[in-house]
Amino acid sequence: MKFGYFDDQNREYVIQTPQTPFPWINYLGNRDFFGLISNTAGGYNFYKDARLRRITRFRYNNIPVDNGGRYYYVKDGDTVWNPGFKPCKTGPDDYECRHGLGYTRITSAKNGVSASLLAFVPLDYNGEVNQLTLKNNTAETKQIQLFSLREWCLWDASDDMLNFQRNFSTGQVEVKDSVIYHKTEYRERRNHYAFFSVNAKIDGFDSQLQDFLGMYNGFDAPQAVLSGSATGSVGDGWQPCASHQINVTLLPDEEKSFIFILGYVEVPEADKWESPHVINKKPALQMIDQFSTDGQVERAMASLASYWERLLRLYRVEIDDEKTARMVNIWNPYQCMVTFNMSRSASYFESGVGRGLGFRDSSQDLLGFVHQIPERARERILDIASTQFRDGGCYHQYQPLTKKGNNDIGGGFNDDPLWLIAGTAAYIKETGDFSILDEQTPYDSNPDDTGTLLEHLTASFNHVVENKGPHGLPLIGRADWNDCLNLNCHSTEPGQSFQTYGTADGRVAESVLIAGMFVAIGPELVELYKRKGLDSKAHEAQQEIEKMRQTVLTHGYDGEWFLRAYDAFGEKIGSKDCEEGKIFIESQGYCVMAGIGVEDGKALKALNSVRDILECDHGIVIQQPAYQTYHSNLGECSSYPPGYKENAGIFCHNNPWIMIAETVLGRGDRAFDLYRKICPAFREEISDLHRTEPYVYSQMIAGKDAGRMGEAKNSWLTGTAAWNFVAISQAILGIKPQYDGLLVDPCIPSVWKEYTVTRVFRGAIYEIHVTNPGNVQKGVRSVTVDGKPLEGNVLPVLGEGAKHIVEVVMG
Ligand code: GLC
Ligand code: GLC
Repeated sequence: MKFGYFDDQNREYVIQTPQTPFPWINYLGNRDFFGLISNTAGGYNFYKDARLRRITRFRYNNIPVDNGGRYYYVKDGDTVWNPGFKPCKTGPDDYECRHGLGYTRITSAKNGVSASLLAFVPLDYNGEVNQLTLKNNTAETKQIQLFSLREWCLWDASDDMLNFQRNFSTGQVEVKDSVIYHKTEYRERRNHYAFFSVNAKIDGFDSQLQDFLGMYNGFDAPQAVLSGSATGSVGDGWQPCASHQINVTLLPDEEKSFIFILGYVEVPEADKWESPHVINKKPALQMIDQFSTDGQVERAMASLASYWERLLRLYRVEIDDEKTARMVNIWNPYQCMVTFNMSRSASYFESGVGRGLGFRDSSQDLLGFVHQIPERARERILDIASTQFRDGGCYHQYQPLTKKGNNDIGGGFNDDPLWLIAGTAAYIKETGDFSILDEQTPYDSNPDDTGTLLEHLTASFNHVVENKGPHGLPLIGRADWNDCLNLNCHSTEPGQSFQTYGTADGRVAESVLIAGMFVAIGPELVELYKRKGLDSKAHEAQQEIEKMRQTVLTHGYDGEWFLRAYDAFGEKIGSKDCEEGKIFIESQGYCVMAGIGVEDGKALKALNSVRDILECDHGIVIQQPAYQTYHSNLGECSSYPPGYKENAGIFCHNNPWIMIAETVLGRGDRAFDLYRKICPAFREEISDLHRTEPYVYSQMIAGKDAGRMGEAKNSWLTGTAAWNFVAISQAILGIKPQYDGLLVDPCIPSVWKEYTVTRVFRGAIYEIHVTNPGNVQKGVRSVTVDGKPLEGNVLPVLGEGAKHIVEVVMG
């Protein structure tokens, strides 16, 4: 069952009912100021950091779901309704929500009045613009009242939620003309305030929530709205809010629009006050000025559209498969931008207070984003690297506002260091910018202790070399990619953190996944050394890689598949000898991507085992059989009920590792089949089962052991976005950036006859037409560039501007 449809022309997903199986959200904002918005106008805003600079309040995990947002109330006689359905839930006569790229438009109608709410964050603007258009579709004059509502968050979202003994006394606002200013803590150490404005004269306002709602009412029955009259309350402690009242007369067929702005400003210390206790409003008024007319809104929307047009033009496929096309051309790159911006911080499953940017998460997010805005990728790589320790280890997470590592979680996740090499390599392949390697970058955020980025990468590599266990495989530390495989934790007390309890320094537990990553990612560093003329370092590193390859074959293979790990007692994990957790996905993916066992058939056997044991209709589960009981030697993965999350859920992130691995073996049919299974556009028809948004990937789909098999959770913020983009764009469609050019090496379903990828690479446009006359899955017979035959299949760097026609014949 579907709850909407894709409008590819407009690059929108159109939701046709407010009652989707879960709130279906969108993201507003590209750089510093962000908003989350659901199809019922719920959500919140923040500046740069979802935890430390939260602007509006959201009530997580609440009843009913999705509380707090951009609420507008239309009071038309005795009927009160909201353009976004919530919070009053008055049944609309008409409803449609269009989630587009960086904007959302919700249109509804009730009793002859229609309302259209357009929400977006203009480019280079620290505010969210809401254009609300009301139209009278009847033959009579309508006298209606419009009320707006935002609830302020007192900046630190975590403190806001917990420390109300203080917060109930700190809230402060100012109200002037049609603008409500939120200035809590501005009088002491803050240099920022927020505001909520409307470009019309108002007939009343409220800025204290309990006065607006009434002490015992919810958002769905605000006293001020029901009585038709705002109270004029001035926020003073408790819960400051911002609400305007506007009385609107609409003649038959008349339409009126109102522009509301939720803005954030920073003021230099010396200019904070315009007079004692009165905040300097100039910067806010300037922002308000930028959007006082519909024409200004229209122009900003056009700029936003051309911004996305430019980004999406960088990789476009024309193919006789509309679902693949819409994912590759629209939604997957869009999600990659969002994961790049948010890491795992703020979604409807991530509260924004828990995690900042993850070292491994952000490094992997780069893989799907780097072609979009390489300059931002560069900056991110250097930010990430500067939280690394001298010994190559790194903070697992850091806060985007301070760019400092999080001490709460610390380091000791031994896969982390390698991802930095992967991210950097992807950046250099995309741009050819080797100069990034020479950037002096701090260790542990200490500006007085720096090394070049290349030195950081060396530290990453050596961190693996210097931390091996009894079999010569890499020590796992607190966990590797699988955060929940906690082999050194051994926790038996409820409430202990699986990740930070126990030691990160266990010298026995080893990871075959990190070994596979080392063999797959290590060669990038070897290549970078060579290009820097560091031949002996390159040689040594290559030897380490070869040694690891042998070690995996000797101690990391279990007959039919790769082992997953050895635990702290030296026992095998992910082995046929185990009762549960006999086979895991991660090591199969990475070891085959590394090419381990390709020659002697071990890789093939491993992928066939994945197919036979781990795969189901909804994708590949992370391991089998699921753990039925908790094993303290394994940690959190065995704490989840069977079929969910890291205990045999379909953890979508590493499904593309298997897709890519299948292309290493040349099995395009398999690769694409796996692509289809977890791809949201292909699952749209089962939205009632899948439940999360059909336009973006979710982190997890419940696996075959789960009571709710096929149901997805944790949509949006997942490495699945980047990895699937890599799988489809590079491994399957086969357009892979290299240090010296663009490799064309498709691995596709044999039934595919042709497709065209237009790829902008280092300034040149390559229009690559691939044909498959012999119905093969892999192999390139000939390539011509602008009519001339090319030796091999690496398209050379052809420089700025021009368009080049490339003909590729498979066979
Ligand atoms: C979450 C984490 C990611 C981890 C994965 C598997 O998605 O963000 O870092 O690799 O879970 O545990
Ligand atoms: C939990 C989740 C895992 C995530 C981790 C992040 O363990 O199961 O997916 O990576 O939290 O801290």
